[in-house]
Order: sequence, then structure tokens, then C-alpha cells
Amino acid sequence: MYDVVIIGGGPGGYAAALYAHNFNLSVALVEKERLGGTCLLRGCIPAKTWLKTAEVYVTVKKASEFGVNAGEPSVDWTAALNRKNSVVDRLVKGLTGLLKTRNVEVFDGYGRLAGGGVEVTDDNGEVHRLEARNVIVATGSKPRAIPGYEFDGNRVASSRDALDWEERPDRVAIIGAGAIGSEFASLLGDTGSEVHLFEMLDQVIPGAEPEAAKTLNREFKKKGIKVRTGVGVGPAEVHDDRVVIPFEGDYVEVDKVLVAVGRAPVTEDIGLETTNVKVDRGFVEVNLETMMTDEPGIYAVGDIVAGTPQLAHAGFAEGIAAITHIATGEAAPVDYRAIPLVVYTHPEMASVGLTEAAAREAGYEIEVTDHGMRGVGRAIIQGEVGGLVKIINEVDGPILGATVVGPGAGEMIHELMYAVAWEALPSEAAAYIHAHPTVSEAIGETLLSAAGRSLH
Ligand code: NAI
Repeated sequence: MYDVVIIGGGPGGYAAALYAHNFNLSVALVEKERLGGTCLLRGCIPAKTWLKTAEVYVTVKKASEFGVNAGEPSVDWTAALNRKNSVVDRLVKGLTGLLKTRNVEVFDGYGRLAGGGVEVTDDNGEVHRLEARNVIVATGSKPRAIPGYEFDGNRVASSRDALDWEERPDRVAIIGAGAIGSEFASLLGDTGSEVHLFEMLDQVIPGAEPEAAKTLNREFKKKGIKVRTGVGVGPAEVHDDRVVIPFEGDYVEVDKVLVAVGRAPVTEDIGLETTNVKVDRGFVEVNLETMMTDEPGIYAVGDIVAGTPQLAHAGFAEGIAAITHIATGEAAPVDYRAIPLVVYTHPEMASVGLTEAAAREAGYEIEVTDHGMRGVGRAIIQGEVGGLVKIINEVDGPILGATVVGPGAGEMIHELMYAVAWEALPSEAAAYIHAHPTVSEAIGETLLSAAGRSLH
């Protein structure tokens, strides 16, 4: 009998498994593929590795602007693919070793809830039963398809397929300009593909601050990416050698189309119907104080949870919350107010807390302060002045949210994470000194302006 059996070895599941050692819980982890889940195997980690290749390529291409003669670079796609694979392999190996050190028993097979425990079907069809005091379901999500764009592993690709493309498509259409679509547009645009980015809603990264989306849009155009927002596409015509994408009486012809219109939870055929767990359109409903479902002893974490962000780091936090409740009986809820979102495009876009629109909708009386990167010394030194900082605070009150676009935005956002989480007043946050010259000074300047003063 295990204290906890976890179904799914992605960020939600493996974080729960790792964290359980703090309480000496006995843990079994069931995974049907390699350990690591979407983020490590076919999501964040490989995508950011490709984006790094694009960044190095662009840096070398611009070398002469910095007085460095490097010749005309080219991307060796096979070498970059190999590097992506070796980064993933290294992290999977590290994770496997760490789970072993923590005495987590890993079962290779397909897990299903059954009679209070979990049944694991291995590759030979043999079924093993694991008895469990508690079960954490962490089965994750998969790319959503749309009619007229069925994934065929070749011309019509999901992000999973695209991360393993053996060569760079010369012409590519991307459907959906959320995080996945925008990151692929950025990396393919930077490395020389003709990119057509289609977004049904009226801006890239819908939900982001409009100024941030506009900045990103402008940078995308500079890369030669054809961005079409507010545009719906008709069903694709898939030929042996090309794909035709019709839209608004026009069409584009490309070599590949990448569909990035969101991710669907993986909750079918895992035995949920044998329990009292409530499922809403495929997502599992939990008590967000504890991550427990309506079935006592059964928890859910990660991308399958209804109403929480589909982000690896949210999954980590939810895994920790579930284990804490299992071990202590105490609720230790995830603080969803201050989970950063980073889109690793070039330039990066990062946000935390409420946007201006979300704050107004929630009924706050707010002040909005922004600051561009054009006058920021370090940004000029780096040759990357396309960016901004935007901070939202309650009138005479704390910082509610912030967005940063620019070089290193994904790192810089964390100081604003603390500001939002700790409900800092702009004047409190502005009292501390940013190092000079740094890109983060743009945040310092914005805080100072939000506090009613300004320097530059
Ligand atoms: P998403 O939901 O973020 O974006 C999908 C986009 O597709 C939306 O903007 C939507 O309006 C658009 N869309 C839907 N149907 C369309 C159609 N027929 N034509 C044109 N546009 C259409 O989903 P995405 O980008 O696939 O990512 C999935 C999940 O993974 C998200 O929750 C995302 O936040 C997460 N993720 C996070 C990353 C990060 O934090 N850097 C990176 C990649 C994914």
C-alpha cells in the first residue's frame, strides 16, 4: 500500500513525487512514456532550446553591428535538432536519477483508477495493481485540433511534431498566436522561414496587455512575419507537396501548417468514470484549497485541472499543494495571483497579476504607468530597444499586475512577482535601487513614475 500513487510523470506529477520525501511518504509514479511530460519532452524545454538556436543565429548575423566580423551564418538544422534532443535527454536523466534518490518507485505503463487504487497496464498488456491511500491524477494535456486541420504528422503539424522537424520549412502557416504559435513564429521567422501567423482574435497573445501585443507585433513584422489578426481560416487543402490555407477570399500556400489553438486535457480512459470525480468539458474539478476532487483521496494537478493556467510551474505548485494536504491534512493553496507568464519570443514578453483590462473588470480603481526601453542604456548597448514596462496599481494602493517586453523580460518579471504577491505600494517598491546599467532599470523608472515622481 502506497501513501500516494501518481498517474503521469510530467511537471505536476513529478513535482508531487519529489516533494513527498519532505514528509516520508511512500510514492509510486506511473508513466507510459519517458519521464518528463509535455514540458520536458515536447513543450517548454525543447521549444526554448530551439529559440536559443534562433537567438544565437540572429546574434551572429548582427555581429558586424557590434564591430565583430563573423561572416554569414547559417543554421545547421540537424545539429540544432541533436542539441535539442541532448538537452532533453540530459534533463530526463537528471529527473530519473533524482526520483530514484528520493525512493520514488516508477512504473512504466498506462495507469487507470480502479477500486480505490491504480491499475497499470504495461507494454505486454500485463496488469499490475497498486494499492493507494491517495491518488494524484496528473495526466496533462495534448494539442487541440480544429476541423479541416487534422494532424497528419507531416504537412499538418502539432507543436509536438514541429519540435522534431528534420529541416526548416521554407514556408509555414501557424494557426493561433497564443504562446505556442507566437514562439514558433519568432523562431522560424528569425531563422529565415516565410511565416504566416493567423489569429482569430484581434491581437497576438490575446489576453496580454494590448501595448505589449503591439510591441511584439511590430517586432514580428521586422522579422518579416506576416501577422494576420482578427482573421479566421477555412479548411486546409492538403496536397502531397504543399498546403493551401484559405482565408477571407484569399489564400496562402505553404510547406507546413502548425496548428497551435490550445491544448485539451487528457482525462479519457483513466477510470475517472468509476469515481465521484467531477469532469467539466474534459477538465477535472478540484477544491483549489487542497487540489482534492469530489472523491476523497483522489487529487488532480497540472493541465487537467479546471480553471487554472496550463503552465508547468503552476503544475509544480499544484503538485506541492496536493502532497502537503495529503501529508498534513492542512490546506496550503497555490497563490494564483502572482504566477508569472513568460512568452519566450524574441523579444520576450512576461506578465504577472492582473492586466489593466482585468483589473478594471474586477472593479478596481487603478492607475497605469508605462515606460519604453528606448532610453534604457543597457537595452541600447544590447541593440534591443523594442520593449516596455507597464505597471497597474490600485489608486493609492498596491501593485496589482505588470507586463514587461524586452530582452530578459522572463527573468525580470520576478521582481514584479514579489511586488504583486506582497501587495507592495509603488512607492515601497520604488525605494530600492536598481543596478546601473541594467534593463531592469526600466522597471525602477516605471515604479518611480507610478509613485508620482520620475527621474529620466
Ligand atoms: P493558447 O490558448 O494560448 O492560444 C491559442 C490561440 O489560438 C488563441 O489566441 C486563439 O484565439 C487562437 N485560435 C483558436 N482557434 C483559432 C482558429 N481557428 N484560427 C485562428 N486562431 C485560432 O494555446 P497555445 O498557444 O496552443 O498554448 C497552449 C497552452 O500551453 C496555453 O495554456 C499556453 O499558455 C501554454 N503554453 C505556455 C507557454 C509559455 O508559458 N511560454 C509556451 C507554450 C504553451
